[in-house]
Amino acid sequence: MSTVIKNGTVVTADLSYSADVLVEDGVITAIGPNLTGDEVLDATGCYVMPGGIDPHTHLEMPFMGTYSTDDFESGTRAALSGGTTMVVDFALPSPGQGLLDALQMWDNKSGRAACDYSYHMAVTWWDKQVFDEMAVVVRERGINTFKHFMAYKGALMVNDDELYASFQRCAELGATPLVHAENGDVVAELSAKLLAQGNTGPEGHAYSRPTQVEGEATNRAIMIADMAGAPLYVVHTSCEEAHEAIRRAKMQGKRVWGEPLIQHLTLDESEYFNADWDHAARRVMSPPFRNKQHQDSLWAGLQSGTLSCVATDHCAFTTEQKRYGVGDFTKIPNGTGGLEDRLPMLWTYGVGTGRLTPNEFVAVTSTNIAKILNCYPKKGAILVGSDADIVVWDPEKSKTIRAENQVSAIDYNVFEGKEVKGLPRYVLTRGQVAVTDGALTEERGHGRFVPRPPNGAVNTALSTWKALTAPRPVERSGIPASGV
Ligand code: URP
Ligand code: ZN
Ligand code: ZN
Ligand code: ZN
Repeated sequence: MSTVIKNGTVVTADLSYSADVLVEDGVITAIGPNLTGDEVLDATGCYVMPGGIDPHTHLEMPFMGTYSTDDFESGTRAALSGGTTMVVDFALPSPGQGLLDALQMWDNKSGRAACDYSYHMAVTWWDKQVFDEMAVVVRERGINTFKHFMAYKGALMVNDDELYASFQRCAELGATPLVHAENGDVVAELSAKLLAQGNTGPEGHAYSRPTQVEGEATNRAIMIADMAGAPLYVVHTSCEEAHEAIRRAKMQGKRVWGEPLIQHLTLDESEYFNADWDHAARRVMSPPFRNKQHQDSLWAGLQSGTLSCVATDHCAFTTEQKRYGVGDFTKIPNGTGGLEDRLPMLWTYGVGTGRLTPNEFVAVTSTNIAKILNCYPKKGAILVGSDADIVVWDPEKSKTIRAENQVSAIDYNVFEGKEVKGLPRYVLTRGQVAVTDGALTEERGHGRFVPRPPNGAVNTALSTWKALTAPRPVERSGIPASGV
């Protein structure tokens, strides 16, 4: 069966134009005027855009003594309802666990996904087994990105020597390292001091992770990646210090990308000073929300291109789970949701305010990350041959975000009460209509793993440059006799 999307304006990262889009067998087969198909979706007054790609989710993630509540089923349903058609989750070995073993655990969970998905592989410890299995992960499992935590001391954190070894291995394999950049040693010291001083509430979480610890770690990760000859993707960039480090690196020709979250773009640190413990704890995540100056910096980064992708870091815990940390903020599970709200929130606060053009919106929600992850133009494009992951976006449709109406399985929403204007009319996942005017008709288990090969264009260019500029011995005609 074929589906045709008629009368809309196709909006891609570089172009807006009127055209119909024909979909057959899950892929786009024609773009142009007067197309016909078995099923007709009317896009009058709408933008026809590549579905969103969220490069940063934690679905059913074991973390801080519990599991994040949205799993691959509820999480991907939430994604689709908000126009996101692909998620990239983190396969997370516990320290000492093999990478392939962890991947098996993630495969066991992802079978219920309603939209396509891929994985980043986390490196949470280091030895020869990890070194060896990284090659298998890249060459046989179609994963070209490796995540490193510079925070969560005593759990997921890796040290500088491990970062260097893993980044160097990434460079050899044509893969790209990712970092959660916060100085985990300093966060641990500040947390202990704050608790000892009686700062036990959720605001202590914000006090324990000032912007300086993120800025320092971002600079350090950039330096280590440069020494190891690898590009670098910095997840959840939340502040000016981290943005400054990324900006400076880019200006020096380094291959570094930054990823602000929709939460950091639109919510600020005042949330942690709310008198209601639950309100504040529900917003505990790392890095924490920042003040308006940092938000302005992130928006400017998206406008100027020094920051590349908007993600959610969707890691949803219920209020009951958050209450594990009553009396000790370090035990509040870190993480917030946002999968179904990312696109409407970014459209409202970005395109609706004139900070972003519709084309820039597509770039930062879909196309840029598809290129960085080396799955473009299968994903992130409206082109003949691309997967028909499409959102038909109605810029006039509006709603008030309410937890009681959300798809996510948790009992609150950090964007509660926000008015959004710009919502999907239709969402297609590989050609199948999964959302019609807010109603989900998705198919459980429809999602497929998206393999991502190594040696993307940037990896290849960087390794060429690093080989050309590598230190080499000076050839000398005469060598003096040894002084011994
Ligand atoms: O607080 C957060 N961000 N939780 C999820 C894990 C991580 O650090 O990304
Ligand atoms: Zn993180
Ligand atoms: Zn994360
Ligand atoms: Zn299907």
